[in-house]
Amino acid sequence: MGQAEPATESSWQTPPTPGWPALRGLMPANVRIGSAVDGKLLATDERYRSELAAQFNAVTAENAMKWVNLEPSPGVYDWSESDQVVKFAQANGQAVYGHTLLWHSSVPAWVSESWPRERIRELLRQHITTVVSRYRGKIWAWDVVNEVLAEDGSLRDSLWLRKLGPGYIADAFRWAHEADPDARLFINDYGTEGRGRKANGLLRLVRELRMAGVPVHGVGFQSHLRWDRAPEDATGNLRRFAALGVSVAITELDVRIQLPVDAEKLLDQALLYQHMLKACLAVSTCESVTLWGFTDTSSWISSHYPGFGAACVFDSDIRPKPAHEALVQELTSRRGTPPG
Ligand code: G3I
Repeated sequence: MGQAEPATESSWQTPPTPGWPALRGLMPANVRIGSAVDGKLLATDERYRSELAAQFNAVTAENAMKWVNLEPSPGVYDWSESDQVVKFAQANGQAVYGHTLLWHSSVPAWVSESWPRERIRELLRQHITTVVSRYRGKIWAWDVVNEVLAEDGSLRDSLWLRKLGPGYIADAFRWAHEADPDARLFINDYGTEGRGRKANGLLRLVRELRMAGVPVHGVGFQSHLRWDRAPEDATGNLRRFAALGVSVAITELDVRIQLPVDAEKLLDQALLYQHMLKACLAVSTCESVTLWGFTDTSSWISSHYPGFGAACVFDSDIRPKPAHEALVQELTSRRGTPPG
């Protein structure tokens, strides 16, 4: 990685990195290519900033917009890192995908389940309204609810379900819509990119929400994959969601490898990245493919999956891997091909 250098707003408008193609320049006009952003690297690493600006036309704050980070104590919001991400994106012509308004893993420690139902409901309403209002007009799409399903496709047992009942999901979408009527509102989950019980549950849930008039505009498929397992019929799966009238998006794509890395595994990884890009491009309402970080330096994988790593399309020195080349090749071969 490059030497740590302090970020200034003028240094954010960085020229494209010479030497390898930029994904953002090759994408079809109606589909964005994004990356999760590591707030610390954004603030300190010029090479990181430069490649992020060159490659992607959308960004998602990897952690900065999570409730637990935004509101460390009741009523006291810390916008510093999330504002930095938004400013960087604006300076570099990137759309911002907001992640996430409600996630069972990101409830501030000061929230107590012993509080009465109405207090918790009002707290959630206020949180969603505060965050969405602050960034009104600056966020292209929000993950309104993240990971609300259990593995069998039923609703996940969470504080929100226990205290508020299943209606909390519709409420969250309605509150977000009131705060920014132009933002695209997504429901996001993992393990749903291929067909299976969980994806079936998500399909049912989205259908019900839409039939009830809830403003759900899109479904995000996280796509945290292993190098040796492709999701079951990702294209067909995305299509059945699109048939409900919603957009779809690949929101957190990465492909972890069991260490040690070798050339064959890197090739398998490249093919899976390409596979997911193709699945998105095969669906006319697919809005974006977002990578969950672009360099192996900042990936969450090594700390969460011992023995795995190297999940991104750039290595830890920010040099492109075969996966980047595969995405470039796929996009180059399609230029001029109509989407869908
Ligand atoms: O920044 C602090 C640092 O100051 C401290 O010293 C260190 C000690 O643990 O923690 C650092 O914060 C960590 C943060 O990542 C930044 O590295 C948190 O502990 C750690 O929990 C956090 O993990 C994030 C995780 O979500 C939980 O929020 C990962 O970076 C992030 O990639 C991961 O992203 C999730 C999506 O939001 C939802 N889908 C799944 C995906 C992967 O788990």
